[in-house]
Amino acid sequence: MDIAMLAWRTLRSLPPLYAWRLLHSARAEVLDETARILGRPPAPRGLARNFLGYRLEHPVGIAAGLDKDASMVWLAWSMGAGFHVVGSVLPHPNRGVEPKILVRLPGGGTVNRLGLPSKGPRTAYERLHLNKPPGMPIAVNIASFTVKGYGYLYKLFSSLASWIEVNISCPNVEDHRSFEDPEMVIELCRYMKPISTPALLKIPPTRDRGLLARYLEVSLECGFSGIVAGNTLRITYQGVPAGLGGSSLFETTLFMVRNLRSMSPPGFAVVGVGGVNSGSRAKALIDAGADLVEVMSAIVHRGPHAPWLIARELSQLL
Ligand SMILES: Cc1cc2nc3c(=O)[nH]c(=O)nc-3n(C[C@H](O)[C@H](O)[C@H](O)COP(=O)(O)O)c2cc1C
Repeated sequence: MDIAMLAWRTLRSLPPLYAWRLLHSARAEVLDETARILGRPPAPRGLARNFLGYRLEHPVGIAAGLDKDASMVWLAWSMGAGFHVVGSVLPHPNRGVEPKILVRLPGGGTVNRLGLPSKGPRTAYERLHLNKPPGMPIAVNIASFTVKGYGYLYKLFSSLASWIEVNISCPNVEDHRSFEDPEMVIELCRYMKPISTPALLKIPPTRDRGLLARYLEVSLECGFSGIVAGNTLRITYQGVPAGLGGSSLFETTLFMVRNLRSMSPPGFAVVGVGGVNSGSRAKALIDAGADLVEVMSAIVHRGPHAPWLIARELSQLL
């Protein structure tokens, strides 16, 4: 077993919240240097593709949540991710909620309650200005409590990100309305105009076909290039609101991808996220029409190499 694998096995054996805190408290320069020494694993065969003008070695990427402040960009590269999503980045530093929760559930699930902690846009901006790794697009996921905040973040990161994910599926409200309301999306996207860098709308999990159709309509009206379907499912865990991720979301993700693909015009991007933990699940989403897939809970269960491991399994299936 090489040193990288040993390090990640150790990390994976720790309680997940402890491992997450350890990674977020590490100095970014140390993580960068470690990653450069580790290098990048070989690309799984037969999976290279173009997406929004970028060349990807494979279609499995790291979802928002692992690297809130862009301190793990080189680490994502050395873990062999096909692409990397930084964030959610907020317009101001945010400590998140207490107590924080991040647990592994048996069978591949996760429960998290972090409350969108963010060091704020300057930290992520400065990190992304540095030398970026080759051959791995980097998206920035933005979230805000106000419409103006979305506009500010979109403009700030437009020149640095390969594409922007607009995360509306979080407990963020303005005038007591939720950004998950498609009408609020129309309002917030007015502050993002003109849309130059591709923007994708990240929506919550739903099996409501009418709601999916409305999200699609507003995305097209706003000039978004695609939809990321979906996010964690809101639940109550030990008496407090939290997000459920992982295995049990998969059927809903499949439903969303299939329906969005069948309703969307040619060239509209559909990214599937929720419950992908194996090559066969990645394949099912791609067969249903996903251009790319993202993983988060699989990282909590299988370690940060999970996207690469899943891509390798996918390559063996094709
Ligand atoms: C610990 C953790 C933190 C997350 N943080 C964010 C976030 O900041 N922004 C966001 O859009 N999604 C966030 N998510 C949601 C994931 O990006 C993903 O959409 C969701 O977990 C479903 O994928 P999965 O089943 O692979 O976990 C987070 C998920 C987890 C588990």
